[in-house]
Amino acid sequence: MFNFFKDKIVAITGGSDGIGRALIEKLIPAGARVSTCARNQDKLYDLQVKFPGTQLHTLVADVSNKNDCSRFIETTIQQFGSIDILINNAGVSMRSLLQDTDVEVIRKVMDINFFGTVYCTKFALNHIIKNKGSIVAISSIAGYRGLPGRSGYSASKFAVNGWMEAIRTELSEEGVNVLWISPGFTRSNIRNAALNAEGEARGDTPLNESELMSPEECAGHILTAIEKRKRTLILTYKGKQTVFLNKFFPSLTDKLTRNFFFKNGKLIK
Ligand SMILES: NC(=O)c1ccc[n+]([C@@H]2O[C@H](COP(=O)([O-])OP(=O)(O)OC[C@H]3O[C@@H](n4cnc5c(N)ncnc54)[C@H](OP(=O)(O)O)[C@@H]3O)[C@@H](O)[C@H]2O)c1
Repeated sequence: MFNFFKDKIVAITGGSDGIGRALIEKLIPAGARVSTCARNQDKLYDLQVKFPGTQLHTLVADVSNKNDCSRFIETTIQQFGSIDILINNAGVSMRSLLQDTDVEVIRKVMDINFFGTVYCTKFALNHIIKNKGSIVAISSIAGYRGLPGRSGYSASKFAVNGWMEAIRTELSEEGVNVLWISPGFTRSNIRNAALNAEGEARGDTPLNESELMSPEECAGHILTAIEKRKRTLILTYKGKQTVFLNKFFPSLTDKLTRNFFFKNGKLIK
């Protein structure tokens, strides 16, 4: 499976958990050389223990910090010599209404999800152009349809989509594929780690995680889309339905979205 990735050099931000980790767990057996970063050293160490040897490079780095992104890309080049594919996956969500939310929470989400993508892409760009490789962003359905209680998260994912579309056009003569993926609800740590009104991790999930798409299945779809050099990919039935309805029936989708996320005037999801 995924023979396309044999000997490819893939840099993935946020590979220590969830979808990023599932990508690594498919890429290493496929023969790719993989570099990843995240903030939590213990989780990266756990990954190193699972994949000892020279195929995996890890670095503690916070993608909202430009210098950390520079170090991540630099050390990847030192280790493997180049980069073929960059997957901007690191991300954080939020869950609180604007009325209650400190605006610094929105800034933090933008710094990680949007500027983290900008920094890593900018630092890796020349290598990806040279290799006619791929720039990938893990966006969200929230990048097509604003979701209540996640205003900063939605803004960051809309920003990622618009930015990726612009650079796709800039790079259209360079042989670089620019692709963004929009997973639907996928089982991971994202809702536990989502920031509350004060910017702390919420530590709970409002969804039944066992009913969601597995990160392994999500990772499989992502790798297939990269191999096929797709433009965009929207995942899950609910995700596709939301994007479709919002495009053609926006007022109806306002009501459906309100009903999904609120009960008796309270945000329940
Ligand atoms: N799961 C879903 O339902 C879903 C749906 C749509 C889109 N997505 C997107 O999928 C991507 C992956 O999310 P996930 O669901 O796999 O979440 P996850 O399980 O919480 O994993 C997030 C990963 O990103 C890392 N990360 C977070 N902030 C970071 C920072 N500032 N610097 C470096 N690394 C950071 C985390 O490690 P540390 O915390 O140690 O830094 C972790 O490795 C995100 O962009 C998310 O928006 C997820």
